[in-house]
Amino acid sequence: MINKMGLTEDIKYVLLSEEQIRARVKELGAQLTEDYRGKNPIFLCVLKGAVNFYADLTRSMGDYMEMDFISISSYGAAQKTSGIVRINKDLDSSITGRHVIIVEDIMDSGLTLNHLTSVLRTREPASLKIVCLLDKPERRECAITPDYVGFVIPNEFVVGYGLDFAGTYRNLPFIGVLKPEVYTEAK
Ligand code: PRP
Repeated sequence: MINKMGLTEDIKYVLLSEEQIRARVKELGAQLTEDYRGKNPIFLCVLKGAVNFYADLTRSMGDYMEMDFISISSYGAAQKTSGIVRINKDLDSSITGRHVIIVEDIMDSGLTLNHLTSVLRTREPASLKIVCLLDKPERRECAITPDYVGFVIPNEFVVGYGLDFAGTYRNLPFIGVLKPEVYTEAK
């Protein structure tokens, strides 16, 4: 249940401002441009949370690249990642022999990306790396680390810039911490 008070009123505080995100995404884009120069990599967007990050990151890439999209969902209870990933919409392109960069909004338990990378590795890409805007290492449940990280964040309930709670808040231009009363049942 969501006790909505208003899109921005539901936010306890801004963790990462639009300006902070913009600056860091540009830095990541510059680094990826250098690291993948001449390799024509495929940037793989994991729907839906990564969309805003993906749109900004790819526009800060200064060399040839291609885009593709995958939609996945996790089996199991809604709030808990099971680690078993179902592919709802697969990639259109073959990644065999290609340099692939998975673009994600957040790594939490790490179970989703752990499973997704093992599925994609069976397709034998030339390389497979992960870029995550946000990393919550405190929550990790398996041995996986993103290759590129925007921000390491504390274990707070964050929304905005693609991240949702129950489908809402993805359109906020910043990343904020949700007020607990929004997602806690009134007594
Ligand atoms: C989020 C996020 C990652 C996953 C991270 O996706 O985009 O895919 O959870 O969690 P984990 O590290 O604990 O596995 P979500 O299932 O919320 O879907 P969405 O991208 O459509 O919002």
